[in-house]
Amino acid sequence: MKKNNLLVASLLAASLLWACESKKSESTQGTSDSLKVEQSAFGKVSDSTQATLYTLHNAAGTTVQISDFGGTIVSWTAPDKNGKFDDITLGCDSLSGYQKGVPYFGALIGRYGNRIAKGQFTLDGKAYSLAKNNGPNALHGGLKGFDKVLWKATPIEGEEPSLKLTYTAKDGEEGYPGNLSVEVVYTLQKDNSLKIDYKATTDKATVVNLTNHAYFNLKGGFDSDILDHEVTLNADKFLPVDATLIPTGELKPVAGTPFDFTKPFKIGARINDAKDEQIKFGLGYDHCWVLTDSTKNLKLAASVYEPTSGRVLEVFTTEPAIQFYTGNFLDGTITGKGGKVYKHRFGLCLETQHYPDSPNQAKFPSTVLKPGETYETTTVYKFSVKK
Ligand code: GLA
Repeated sequence: MKKNNLLVASLLAASLLWACESKKSESTQGTSDSLKVEQSAFGKVSDSTQATLYTLHNAAGTTVQISDFGGTIVSWTAPDKNGKFDDITLGCDSLSGYQKGVPYFGALIGRYGNRIAKGQFTLDGKAYSLAKNNGPNALHGGLKGFDKVLWKATPIEGEEPSLKLTYTAKDGEEGYPGNLSVEVVYTLQKDNSLKIDYKATTDKATVVNLTNHAYFNLKGGFDSDILDHEVTLNADKFLPVDATLIPTGELKPVAGTPFDFTKPFKIGARINDAKDEQIKFGLGYDHCWVLTDSTKNLKLAASVYEPTSGRVLEVFTTEPAIQFYTGNFLDGTITGKGGKVYKHRFGLCLETQHYPDSPNQAKFPSTVLKPGETYETTTVYKFSVKK
């Protein structure tokens, strides 16, 4: 069995390397054939609608596959320190896997990413009620959030290929006010980074908090957890939560706590600190860190280093905060791509965003979007290697 896996893995690696080599030679010859955005059928969403899988690649050999179903990043390859490309993001082989209800693997999240307490908020004096899909709270846009809808996709070919996705959420959809027109553009850049530009406008005051929910395992292969990944977060405060993971309202200094990632720490070093109430509530890390640089500039928010592969992931964002989630709810019940079982903490998420529950917490930066305004944020996930 192991031998077979090895054989399959080496054939796969060889084919990826081959693809990479052929792309390189084509691009040096000045053709752009290899940089076309390929399209393939991904499965049936309903009797009349089909999902498509778009494959973006750059001259450096990186491939990112995105579906118009949920705007989902289905696969994403990155080179290790020996130049070997591996898929580093958790997901499913086909649409049906995503339709079964996986925990937001690679998906676009909206209209409001993260939690809203008791599924309720008041805006301009009017009370709104959302589905409680996470204990007593609303999570990630509701029962059918942006992760479960079919987006309209427009591929844009070139040296830095893009996929433009648009979706209009109706006034009242999932309980939120306002027709919200959303545009998300994924761009695979030459330097092995994936840029995500989010834009939205509304015809009625509403709340918006968009993000992507990719789960990373930088080791490649999906055979082990992420506890040996070393994480740095450029955040000197985090948001403590109650037992239902709603922020208490306090911005707590990370200094002296297991939440201090201002210097690199292995995830596993303090994740099981039984004495820490916040670790207990999160079942590990499942919290929002407040970035030290509170400007809207694109700044480095987080970096992750995986020592065996040498892969480094840096996350840059214009957002004020980042949810760091360590796959605490993964429990081995989901079989993902290539038959790999996603066990406890096999993936980590770095979800750039505004603070959870902002619609109910006046002291948090506002997530209200009004007619005439444009919601605009950018996040960049960049891969490199450290030898
Ligand atoms: C988010 C939440 C987690 C969990 C995951 C999906 O990141 O913060 O608590 O719900 O999504 O399982």
